[in-house]
Amino acid sequence: MSDSVLQIRDLRVTFNTQMGELRAVRGVDVDVAPGKILGVVGESGSGKSVSFLAAMGLLPKSASISGSVMLDGQELIGAKKKFVRSVRGRLLSMVFQDPLSALNPVHRVGDQIVEMIQSHQDMSTHDAQKRAVQLLEIVGIPQPDERALQYPHEFSGGMRQRVVIAMAIANDPKVLIADEPTTALDVTVQAQILEVIQTVQQRFGTAVVLITHDLGVIARVADSVNVMYAGRNVESGSVQSMFDHPSHPYTRGLLSSLPHEGVERLQPIAGFPPNMLAPPPGCGFAPRCAFATDACSAELPALRQFDDLLTSCIRAEDLRIRSNS
Ligand SMILES: Nc1ncnc2c1ncn2[C@@H]1O[C@H](COP(=O)(O)OP(=O)(O)O)[C@@H](O)[C@H]1O
Ligand SMILES: [Mg+2]
Repeated sequence: MSDSVLQIRDLRVTFNTQMGELRAVRGVDVDVAPGKILGVVGESGSGKSVSFLAAMGLLPKSASISGSVMLDGQELIGAKKKFVRSVRGRLLSMVFQDPLSALNPVHRVGDQIVEMIQSHQDMSTHDAQKRAVQLLEIVGIPQPDERALQYPHEFSGGMRQRVVIAMAIANDPKVLIADEPTTALDVTVQAQILEVIQTVQQRFGTAVVLITHDLGVIARVADSVNVMYAGRNVESGSVQSMFDHPSHPYTRGLLSSLPHEGVERLQPIAGFPPNMLAPPPGCGFAPRCAFATDACSAELPALRQFDDLLTSCIRAEDLRIRSNS
């Protein structure tokens, strides 16, 4: 029995498109410990959203999904639609980049939270209304009783994202998935939303999956991290180890593209992410990797353990020696 509240094994998602089969997710494992924050980081198109939309049962019919998604010991892949629907919003919730997409413009925000509660719990409207106001307060919305009566357009972007988080935690889920929750917001507001997510994690022991393309966000709040590239984890493990001894060239590239003191110009990783209609053979990063040899494209590098990290790179030892010298 695993001690992960969310455990994903060998998740694969292929979209049937007019241009052919697009292999968006190619064998991803995820472990989220109860009450902890897992950061999922990678460039746009690396399969972050698709992985967790698959877990939520929210992908379109064009997606073929295989593998295992165990939530609190229950398998979701292949489960009955009705069961997955009952899990979604109750045990497992997701918050997206654009809060407006999650809110109904013609309903008061309090009513939308009430509906979220009553669709999963047998609670009187009066009690659910009280709970909605309490939730708005928890996510840091001032005058929550008045705000509950307002409509989404009366809220700023940051306040709307707070409302969406209140809805997502309304049924006290085991796991909250936040997919780039701060990407659409002003920089000053971004930190506040991260604080709200941390508050939820600490106060209710909710496990969180925080999807981001920003390693700075991971450094600030996550306990562990999965680094994704071309539909796979290239490196995963503790955040501390990843920052202290990154072992995969892609992770190192991400780290060196972080702004830090004394460095004015960022060094983005050269080249472009692969076309997932025809992903490169072997290591997906090899075509962009300064350390790649022919062997890297010959077969998929196995995941190997270095300190607290699992790394998929046959050159990892050589790189670690270099970085220590
Ligand atoms: N509904 C879809 N149909 C076809 N391809 C999709 C669909 N959704 C995502 N993709 C493709 O799957 C890959 C992974 O996308 P995604 O998980 O959204 O990336 P990100 O890491 O930026 O969240 C990309 O190549 C994207 O174009
Ligand atoms: Mg995404």
